[in-house]
Amino acid sequence: MTIFNGRKAKISGTGVYIPEKIMKNTDFEKFLDTSDSWIYERTGIKERHFAADGERCSDLAYNAAVAALNDAKMSPETLDMIIVATNTPDSTFPSMSCKVQGRLRAVNAGAFDVLAGCVGGVAAIQTAVSGVVSGLWNNVLVVASEKFKDYVDWNDRSTCILFGDGAGACVLSTSNEGEGNFISSKISADGTKHDFLSNETENSGDPHVIKMKGQDVFKYVSINLPKFIENFCEESKITPENVDFWIMHQANTRIIDSVFKRVGISIDKTLLNLEQYGNTSAASVMIALDESMKKGCVKQGDKVCFVAFGAGMTLGALLYEV
Ligand code: COA
Repeated sequence: MTIFNGRKAKISGTGVYIPEKIMKNTDFEKFLDTSDSWIYERTGIKERHFAADGERCSDLAYNAAVAALNDAKMSPETLDMIIVATNTPDSTFPSMSCKVQGRLRAVNAGAFDVLAGCVGGVAAIQTAVSGVVSGLWNNVLVVASEKFKDYVDWNDRSTCILFGDGAGACVLSTSNEGEGNFISSKISADGTKHDFLSNETENSGDPHVIKMKGQDVFKYVSINLPKFIENFCEESKITPENVDFWIMHQANTRIIDSVFKRVGISIDKTLLNLEQYGNTSAASVMIALDESMKKGCVKQGDKVCFVAFGAGMTLGALLYEV
C-alpha cells in the first residue's frame, strides 16, 4: 500500500539547526590531495558545517526541535511522540529522541529513534504520519540530526568531502478540511547492495568510519530512482509533471540532474542547498523542507514530493498537499 488511509495529517511547523563552524573545500586542500574545483564539479558542494567541540548529535536535534515547536506555536506538553532519525547518534542507547524528550520536558511524549541511512528523514515522517492517520497520536515531533564529524575517515578523500552536520525538524498534527494532508508514501530496499555504503567493523576495522563504493552508489541511484519515482507517482495517482515542488535528498547535484532529466522534471521545481551544507544524510530532506517553506517555494494547495535514497540501498518518497 502506498496511500495513507484514515485521518489526515499536516505539517504544523518546521525548524532547523545548522552548527556555526564552516569547512570550505579549500580547507581540505591543506591535508588531502584534492581541490575545490574537483569537489565542486563532481558533487556540487562548496562548503559544509560541522558541530563545535563538545556539541553532540542530540544537541543539534534539540535545537532543531525547539525551532520547529516555536514555528508551530506549540508547547512540548502537547506532543504524543518524538521520533529522531539519525545515523550518527551520541550513543546507540539511550536514544537521541529520549534525550530530546527529556530536555524539552515533553512529559506526555514517548520517544524512539529511526536508523535508515539517508532515507531516515522520510522513514521517520512516514512513521509519524502513520501514527497520526491511524489515531494513535495527535501531535508528533519528527527530528533528523547528523553529526558526521565523528564518523568520516579524514584520510579518505572520496568520502570525507561529501558529508556535513546539521538537523531539521517538523511537527506533524491532525489536519482539518482545507489544511495540509499527507497523501502517500513508499520505501523500497535492496539489501543485496548493503556493502555499497556502510560503517561495518569488518570492512574498516573501525565501527564508525564510513566506507563507500561511490561509483556503485551513483549508478544504483541514477538507474533505480527514476523508475521508483515514476512508480510512486503512478501509485499515488499523480504524474511527475503535476507535482509542484520536489524536496530532494541532497547528496550530489549530478545525481539530482540525471534523475530529473530521466523523469522529465525541471530543475526549477526543486531547491538545491548542498553547496552550503554538503550531504547531511537523514537531515537533508528536513533541512530542505524548512528552507522551501520559509523561502515561499511552496504555497497552499501545492503537491510536494519528498525523495530520498541511501545506504541499504534504500529509496523513499512522500507526497504532501500543502
Ligand atoms: N579529490 C580529488 N580526486 C579524488 C577525490 C577528491 N576528493 N576523490 C576521489 N578522487 C579520485 C579517485 O581517487 C580517482 O582517481 P584515480 O582515477 O587516479 O583512481 C578519481 O578521482 C575518480 O574516482 P571516482 O570514484 O571514479 O570518481 P567519481 O567521479 O565517481 O566521483 C564521488 C566520486 C564519490 C564524488 C561519486 O562517485 C559520487 O558522488 N557517488 C555517490 C556518493 C553518494 O552520493 N553517497 C551518498 C549517498 S546517500
